[in-house]
Amino acid sequence: MPDLDGVKEAKSFHSDVPQKTEGFFLKGSNSLDWGMKNRLARIFNPESGNTVMLAVDHGYFQGPTTGLERIDLNILPLVKYADTLMLTRGILRSVVPPSMTVPIVIRASGGSSILKELSNEEIAVAVEDSIRMNVSAMAVQVFIGGEYEKQSIINMTRLIDEGTRAGIPTLAVTAVGKDMARDARYFRLATRICAELGAHYVKTYYIEEGFETVTSCCPVPIVIAGGKKIPEADALKMAYNAIQQGANGVDMGRNIFQSESPEAMIQAVNAVVHKNETPDKAYQMYLDLRNKG
Ligand code: R5P
Repeated sequence: MPDLDGVKEAKSFHSDVPQKTEGFFLKGSNSLDWGMKNRLARIFNPESGNTVMLAVDHGYFQGPTTGLERIDLNILPLVKYADTLMLTRGILRSVVPPSMTVPIVIRASGGSSILKELSNEEIAVAVEDSIRMNVSAMAVQVFIGGEYEKQSIINMTRLIDEGTRAGIPTLAVTAVGKDMARDARYFRLATRICAELGAHYVKTYYIEEGFETVTSCCPVPIVIAGGKKIPEADALKMAYNAIQQGANGVDMGRNIFQSESPEAMIQAVNAVVHKNETPDKAYQMYLDLRNKG
Protein backbone atom coordinates (compact mmCIF):
# COMPACT_ATOMS: atom_id res chain seq x y z
CA MET A 1 0.00 0.00 0.00
CA PRO A 2 1.41 3.46 -0.80
CA ASP A 3 1.81 5.80 2.13
CA LEU A 4 -1.32 7.98 2.43
CA ASP A 5 0.38 10.76 4.43
CA GLY A 6 2.13 13.58 2.64
CA VAL A 7 0.79 12.57 -0.78
CA LYS A 8 1.73 15.18 -3.37
CA GLU A 9 -1.37 16.78 -4.77
CA ALA A 10 -2.00 15.77 -8.36
CA LYS A 11 -2.21 18.76 -10.66
CA SER A 12 -0.77 17.81 -14.05
CA PHE A 13 -4.18 17.34 -15.57
CA HIS A 14 -3.48 19.27 -18.80
CA SER A 15 -7.19 19.83 -19.16
CA ASP A 16 -6.60 21.87 -22.30
CA VAL A 17 -4.82 19.01 -24.10
CA PRO A 18 -7.21 16.36 -25.41
CA GLN A 19 -5.90 12.81 -25.07
CA LYS A 20 -4.67 11.54 -28.41
CA THR A 21 -6.27 8.37 -29.62
CA GLU A 22 -3.75 7.20 -32.11
CA GLY A 23 -4.79 5.17 -35.07
CA PHE A 24 -2.87 1.93 -35.42
CA PHE A 25 -0.51 2.05 -38.39
CA LEU A 26 -1.66 -1.17 -39.98
CA LYS A 27 -4.48 -1.36 -42.48
CA GLY A 28 -7.77 -2.63 -41.05
CA SER A 29 -6.27 -3.39 -37.63
CA ASN A 30 -7.35 -0.42 -35.53
CA SER A 31 -10.15 -2.19 -33.71
CA LEU A 32 -8.05 -5.12 -32.55
CA ASP A 33 -7.08 -5.66 -28.94
CA TRP A 34 -3.77 -4.46 -27.50
CA GLY A 35 -2.02 -7.83 -27.50
CA MET A 36 -3.03 -8.52 -31.06
CA LYS A 37 -1.79 -5.10 -32.19
CA ASN A 38 1.43 -5.53 -30.26
CA ARG A 39 2.11 -8.83 -31.96
CA LEU A 40 1.35 -7.35 -35.38
CA ALA A 41 3.70 -4.46 -34.58
CA ARG A 42 6.47 -7.00 -34.03
CA ILE A 43 5.85 -8.51 -37.45
CA PHE A 44 5.26 -5.27 -39.37
CA ASN A 45 7.79 -2.52 -38.80
CA PRO A 46 5.78 0.44 -37.43
CA GLU A 47 8.00 2.89 -39.32
CA SER A 48 7.72 1.47 -42.83
CA GLY A 49 4.47 -0.40 -42.16
CA ASN A 50 5.97 -3.38 -43.95
CA THR A 51 7.58 -6.72 -43.17
CA VAL A 52 10.20 -9.09 -44.51
CA MET A 53 9.06 -12.51 -43.40
CA LEU A 54 11.60 -15.22 -44.03
CA ALA A 55 9.57 -18.33 -44.94
CA VAL A 56 11.24 -21.66 -44.21
CA ASP A 57 8.19 -23.82 -43.46
CA HIS A 58 8.26 -25.75 -46.76
CA GLY A 59 9.32 -28.98 -45.04
CA TYR A 60 5.88 -29.41 -43.46
CA PHE A 61 4.59 -30.95 -46.68
CA GLN A 62 7.67 -31.47 -48.88
CA GLY A 63 10.49 -32.52 -46.56
CA PRO A 64 14.05 -31.23 -46.90
CA THR A 65 13.60 -28.62 -49.62
CA THR A 66 16.68 -27.37 -51.51
CA GLY A 67 18.31 -24.72 -49.34
CA LEU A 68 16.59 -25.96 -46.18
CA GLU A 69 18.52 -29.18 -45.71
CA ARG A 70 20.37 -27.61 -42.77
CA ILE A 71 18.37 -24.79 -41.29
CA ASP A 72 20.93 -24.42 -38.51
CA LEU A 73 23.71 -23.71 -41.00
CA ASN A 74 21.89 -22.03 -43.89
CA ILE A 75 19.01 -20.12 -42.36
CA LEU A 76 19.99 -18.99 -38.86
CA PRO A 77 22.66 -16.58 -40.19
CA LEU A 78 19.94 -14.84 -42.25
CA VAL A 79 17.56 -14.26 -39.37
CA LYS A 80 19.15 -10.98 -38.34
CA TYR A 81 18.00 -9.43 -41.63
CA ALA A 82 14.39 -10.62 -41.32
CA ASP A 83 11.52 -9.03 -39.42
CA THR A 84 9.90 -12.39 -38.86
CA LEU A 85 10.72 -16.06 -39.20
CA MET A 86 7.95 -18.32 -40.51
CA LEU A 87 8.52 -21.97 -39.73
CA THR A 88 7.17 -25.16 -38.17
CA ARG A 89 7.23 -25.87 -34.45
CA GLY A 90 9.46 -28.88 -35.06
CA ILE A 91 12.21 -26.74 -36.53
CA LEU A 92 11.62 -23.99 -33.99
CA ARG A 93 12.15 -26.29 -31.05
CA SER A 94 14.90 -28.44 -32.52
CA VAL A 95 17.04 -25.84 -34.27
CA VAL A 96 16.25 -22.23 -33.33
CA PRO A 97 17.88 -21.02 -30.10
CA PRO A 98 15.30 -19.46 -27.75
CA SER A 99 17.71 -16.55 -27.28
CA MET A 100 16.94 -15.55 -30.88
CA THR A 101 14.23 -12.96 -30.33
CA VAL A 102 13.00 -12.69 -33.89
CA PRO A 103 9.17 -12.73 -33.98
CA ILE A 104 7.87 -16.16 -34.95
CA VAL A 105 5.00 -16.95 -37.30
CA ILE A 106 4.21 -20.57 -36.73
CA ARG A 107 2.92 -22.89 -39.45
CA ALA A 108 -0.23 -24.13 -37.75
CA SER A 109 -1.87 -26.25 -40.46
CA GLY A 110 -0.72 -29.56 -41.89
CA GLY A 111 -1.66 -33.14 -42.49
CA SER A 112 -0.91 -33.60 -46.19
CA SER A 113 2.23 -34.25 -48.21
CA ILE A 114 3.31 -33.78 -51.81
CA LEU A 115 2.44 -37.45 -52.31
CA LYS A 116 -1.27 -36.81 -51.69
CA GLU A 117 -3.99 -34.17 -52.02
CA LEU A 118 -2.46 -31.01 -50.56
CA SER A 119 -5.71 -29.31 -49.63
CA ASN A 120 -6.60 -32.07 -47.18
CA GLU A 121 -5.21 -30.22 -44.16
CA GLU A 122 -6.29 -29.69 -40.60
CA ILE A 123 -5.13 -27.50 -37.76
CA ALA A 124 -1.87 -29.10 -36.66
CA VAL A 125 -0.81 -26.93 -33.71
CA ALA A 126 -2.94 -26.19 -30.65
CA VAL A 127 -3.23 -22.53 -29.75
CA GLU A 128 -1.95 -23.38 -26.24
CA ASP A 129 1.27 -24.54 -27.86
CA SER A 130 1.49 -21.34 -29.90
CA ILE A 131 1.17 -19.40 -26.66
CA ARG A 132 3.87 -21.59 -25.10
CA MET A 133 6.19 -20.86 -28.02
CA ASN A 134 5.47 -17.13 -27.67
CA VAL A 135 4.56 -16.79 -31.35
CA SER A 136 3.54 -13.53 -32.96
CA ALA A 137 1.10 -15.09 -35.44
CA MET A 138 -0.22 -18.43 -36.66
CA ALA A 139 -0.33 -19.33 -40.35
CA VAL A 140 -2.97 -21.53 -41.94
CA GLN A 141 -3.29 -22.60 -45.56
CA VAL A 142 -6.61 -21.84 -47.28
CA PHE A 143 -7.46 -23.60 -50.53
CA ILE A 144 -10.17 -21.55 -52.22
CA GLY A 145 -11.53 -23.65 -55.08
CA GLY A 146 -9.53 -26.65 -53.88
CA GLU A 147 -10.91 -30.09 -53.18
CA TYR A 148 -11.02 -29.50 -49.42
CA GLU A 149 -11.96 -25.84 -49.66
CA LYS A 150 -14.52 -25.84 -46.84
CA GLN A 151 -12.30 -27.84 -44.47
CA SER A 152 -9.43 -25.42 -45.01
CA ILE A 153 -11.69 -22.39 -44.47
CA ILE A 154 -13.02 -23.86 -41.25
CA ASN A 155 -9.43 -24.55 -40.14
CA MET A 156 -8.83 -20.84 -40.60
CA THR A 157 -11.96 -19.65 -38.78
CA ARG A 158 -11.30 -22.02 -35.89
CA LEU A 159 -7.74 -20.76 -35.57
CA ILE A 160 -9.00 -17.15 -35.70
CA ASP A 161 -11.52 -17.87 -32.92
CA GLU A 162 -8.97 -19.54 -30.69
CA GLY A 163 -6.22 -17.07 -31.57
CA THR A 164 -8.50 -14.15 -30.77
CA ARG A 165 -9.02 -15.51 -27.27
CA ALA A 166 -5.25 -15.54 -26.83
CA GLY A 167 -4.50 -12.30 -28.68
CA ILE A 168 -2.59 -14.06 -31.47
CA PRO A 169 -3.21 -12.94 -35.07
CA THR A 170 -3.88 -15.42 -37.87
CA LEU A 171 -2.17 -15.25 -41.24
CA ALA A 172 -4.25 -16.84 -44.01
CA VAL A 173 -2.05 -18.30 -46.73
CA THR A 174 -3.90 -18.58 -50.03
CA ALA A 175 -2.78 -21.76 -51.75
CA VAL A 176 -3.41 -22.04 -55.46
CA GLY A 177 -4.31 -25.46 -56.79
CA LYS A 178 -2.73 -26.74 -60.00
CA ASP A 179 -5.92 -26.16 -62.01
CA MET A 180 -6.62 -22.66 -60.72
CA ALA A 181 -5.95 -19.57 -62.87
CA ARG A 182 -3.47 -17.30 -61.13
CA ASP A 183 -5.21 -14.06 -62.03
CA ALA A 184 -6.52 -10.96 -60.27
CA ARG A 185 -10.08 -12.26 -60.19
CA TYR A 186 -8.99 -15.42 -58.38
CA PHE A 187 -6.75 -13.63 -55.90
CA ARG A 188 -9.41 -10.98 -55.17
CA LEU A 189 -11.80 -13.82 -54.37
CA ALA A 190 -9.37 -15.80 -52.24
CA THR A 191 -7.91 -12.92 -50.24
CA ARG A 192 -11.24 -11.22 -49.67
CA ILE A 193 -12.87 -14.44 -48.38
CA CYS A 194 -10.00 -14.86 -45.89
CA ALA A 195 -10.30 -11.25 -44.71
CA GLU A 196 -14.10 -11.33 -44.51
CA LEU A 197 -13.90 -14.40 -42.30
CA GLY A 198 -11.48 -12.68 -39.93
CA ALA A 199 -7.88 -13.31 -41.04
CA HIS A 200 -5.65 -10.58 -39.65
CA TYR A 201 -3.44 -10.57 -42.70
CA VAL A 202 -3.26 -12.57 -45.89
CA LYS A 203 -0.49 -14.04 -47.97
CA THR A 204 -0.95 -14.34 -51.68
CA TYR A 205 1.06 -14.32 -54.89
CA TYR A 206 2.06 -11.32 -56.96
CA ILE A 207 0.57 -11.12 -60.44
CA GLU A 208 1.59 -8.77 -63.23
CA GLU A 209 -1.93 -7.67 -64.15
CA GLY A 210 -4.29 -6.12 -61.63
CA PHE A 211 -2.41 -6.83 -58.40
CA GLU A 212 -3.38 -3.37 -57.13
CA THR A 213 -7.05 -4.42 -57.29
CA VAL A 214 -6.24 -7.40 -55.06
CA THR A 215 -4.64 -5.21 -52.40
CA SER A 216 -7.18 -2.40 -52.62
CA CYS A 217 -10.23 -4.59 -52.03
CA CYS A 218 -8.65 -6.64 -49.26
CA PRO A 219 -9.37 -4.76 -46.01
CA VAL A 220 -6.34 -6.16 -44.15
CA PRO A 221 -2.62 -6.22 -45.07
CA ILE A 222 -1.38 -8.45 -47.84
CA VAL A 223 2.10 -9.96 -48.05
CA ILE A 224 3.37 -11.81 -51.08
CA ALA A 225 4.97 -15.21 -51.24
CA GLY A 226 8.08 -15.32 -53.37
CA GLY A 227 7.10 -18.45 -55.29
CA LYS A 228 9.53 -20.59 -57.23
CA LYS A 229 13.11 -19.42 -57.64
CA ILE A 230 13.60 -16.81 -60.35
CA PRO A 231 16.67 -14.65 -61.13
CA GLU A 232 17.51 -12.27 -58.28
CA ALA A 233 16.88 -9.14 -60.39
CA ASP A 234 13.38 -10.40 -61.24
CA ALA A 235 12.56 -11.32 -57.66
CA LEU A 236 13.58 -7.84 -56.48
CA LYS A 237 11.45 -6.28 -59.20
CA MET A 238 8.51 -8.43 -58.14
CA ALA A 239 8.91 -7.36 -54.52
CA TYR A 240 9.20 -3.72 -55.56
CA ASN A 241 6.10 -3.84 -57.76
CA ALA A 242 4.12 -5.59 -55.04
CA ILE A 243 5.00 -2.93 -52.47
CA GLN A 244 4.25 -0.09 -54.90
CA GLN A 245 0.91 -1.73 -55.63
CA GLY A 246 -0.20 -1.93 -52.03
CA ALA A 247 1.40 -5.02 -50.47
CA ASN A 248 2.72 -4.61 -46.92
CA GLY A 249 5.66 -6.91 -47.36
CA VAL A 250 6.94 -10.26 -48.47
CA ASP A 251 6.85 -13.72 -47.00
CA MET A 252 9.71 -14.98 -49.09
CA GLY A 253 11.43 -18.32 -49.03
CA ARG A 254 13.02 -19.89 -52.10
CA ASN A 255 14.03 -16.62 -53.73
CA ILE A 256 16.10 -15.93 -50.65
CA PHE A 257 17.41 -19.27 -49.43
CA GLN A 258 17.96 -20.69 -52.94
CA SER A 259 19.76 -17.52 -54.09
CA GLU A 260 23.42 -17.76 -55.01
CA SER A 261 23.98 -15.48 -52.01
CA PRO A 262 21.08 -15.69 -49.55
CA GLU A 263 22.65 -13.18 -47.19
CA ALA A 264 23.04 -10.58 -49.95
CA MET A 265 19.57 -11.29 -51.29
CA ILE A 266 17.71 -10.86 -48.03
CA GLN A 267 19.42 -7.51 -47.46
CA ALA A 268 18.45 -6.33 -50.93
CA VAL A 269 14.85 -7.48 -50.37
CA ASN A 270 14.85 -5.64 -47.06
CA ALA A 271 15.91 -2.40 -48.79
CA VAL A 272 13.07 -2.74 -51.29
CA VAL A 273 10.46 -3.50 -48.64
CA HIS A 274 11.47 -0.96 -46.01
CA LYS A 275 13.25 1.78 -47.96
CA ASN A 276 11.42 1.68 -51.28
CA GLU A 277 14.75 0.98 -52.97
CA THR A 278 14.31 0.68 -56.74
CA PRO A 279 14.85 -2.75 -58.29
CA ASP A 280 17.98 -1.59 -60.15
CA LYS A 281 19.62 -0.16 -57.04
CA ALA A 282 18.57 -3.14 -54.96
CA TYR A 283 20.06 -5.51 -57.51
CA GLN A 284 23.29 -3.53 -57.52
CA MET A 285 23.27 -3.78 -53.73
CA TYR A 286 22.79 -7.54 -54.05
CA LEU A 287 25.76 -7.81 -56.45
CA ASP A 288 28.00 -5.66 -54.26
CA LEU A 289 27.18 -7.67 -51.13
CA ARG A 290 27.55 -10.96 -52.99
CA ASN A 291 30.92 -9.96 -54.40
CA LYS A 292 32.14 -8.91 -50.99
CA GLY A 293 31.43 -12.48 -50.01
C1 R5P B 1 4.68 -22.87 -48.65
O1 R5P B 1 4.04 -23.80 -48.51
C2 R5P B 1 4.86 -21.94 -47.61
O2 R5P B 1 3.67 -21.36 -47.16
C3 R5P B 1 5.86 -20.88 -47.93
O3 R5P B 1 6.05 -20.22 -46.72
C4 R5P B 1 5.46 -19.89 -48.98
O4 R5P B 1 5.13 -20.50 -50.17
C5 R5P B 1 6.54 -18.84 -49.19
O5 R5P B 1 7.68 -19.41 -49.67
P1 R5P B 1 8.19 -19.17 -51.16
O6 R5P B 1 8.62 -17.75 -51.22
O7 R5P B 1 9.29 -20.13 -51.35
O8 R5P B 1 7.02 -19.40 -52.10
